[in-house]
Amino acid sequence: MLQPYLNKITQGNSLDILQQLPPQSIDLVVTSPPYFQQRNYGNGLDEIGQETSEQAYLDRLLAIFRECVRVTKDTGAIVFNLGDKYKNGGLQLIPFKFALQVLAQEQVFLVNQLTWNKLNPTPRQDKRKLVQATEPFFVFAKTKRYTFNVDDFLQHLDVLNKKQRKASSGIGKKYYQLIEEAGLSEIEKENAKKALDEAIQAVFRGEISSFRMKIRGIHKLAYGGQAGGRNNQILNNGFSIIKITGNKLKKDIIESPVENTKDNQHTAVYPLYIIQELIKLLSNQGDIVVDPFNGSGTTCVAAKILHRQYIGIDINSDYVELARRRLAETDRKQELIF
Ligand SMILES: C[S@@+](CC[C@H](N)C(=O)[O-])C[C@H]1O[C@@H](n2cnc3c(N)ncnc32)[C@H](O)[C@@H]1O
Repeated sequence: MLQPYLNKITQGNSLDILQQLPPQSIDLVVTSPPYFQQRNYGNGLDEIGQETSEQAYLDRLLAIFRECVRVTKDTGAIVFNLGDKYKNGGLQLIPFKFALQVLAQEQVFLVNQLTWNKLNPTPRQDKRKLVQATEPFFVFAKTKRYTFNVDDFLQHLDVLNKKQRKASSGIGKKYYQLIEEAGLSEIEKENAKKALDEAIQAVFRGEISSFRMKIRGIHKLAYGGQAGGRNNQILNNGFSIIKITGNKLKKDIIESPVENTKDNQHTAVYPLYIIQELIKLLSNQGDIVVDPFNGSGTTCVAAKILHRQYIGIDINSDYVELARRRLAETDRKQELIF
């Protein structure tokens, strides 16, 4: 049954609670389980992370992941964020061992391994290691029909690019003057101005991010003047326009500082910003988002702001209370954070 858990934070062992949920009832799971032997949240034997061996930890995590697969719809996705651990001076690659075992055991595939680039990692420089400033978010799906709103992901960066494009189209206007000064024939001048108009419009329409213009008599020919496509254009037509398509790619990297835990008693909070972007990418309004290791409720807060439904589960009653308080203070009309 879904209803008793919907838009609520439930206290309990996530394995038990997930088993109560119907198959194929959830659109998205986003979570960050406790890392191996990192913190003791004081919840006894059911708590994940305190196992004596790495494989025992992975096995318990995999059992919970299996339940996530069962409850997730064919159009859904499952996102797990994990951190690594050093042992005898070496990284254990625990997140990657987890991902490999998931792929070997479950009917899912890895859509992306999104890397969180921490803008403010712990400023402790080891003399024999670089500062560890990244963590993976593994994005798994069950079928090729997974929801993927690529245009919504990091959309605010597109807006920033648009502003840059506008500035660059202003710079383009200097070329009108250069065309007049270049000593081109009347017909060449006319064609050059027409091409320049079109390039500026293409920038405004967002088809290109910027452009450069080379004008005969003003600019040097490329590659020392040898014959070639662009040089021929400049010699024969009086000008050439180089279009720059810019970077509209949505890459598997996301930059964000580690959350400040000053106003949050939870010691391992992940950034609301990253979760907000993942929820926009992988679900639609009204969809149900689950976090089986809910902690202070970051996933549910992001889901609420983004008009999704949520289910939060945590074993620790203090964190359950904390998440409930955070959610009560969260308004659906709240601004997204950038
Ligand atoms: C890394 S924290 C999650 C923090 C969360 N992402 C946030 O932003 O606040 C992991 C959480 O898992 C909880 N936990 C550990 N074992 C659990 C279990 N078996 N079932 C449910 N929750 C568990 C811990 O109490 C802890 O709050």
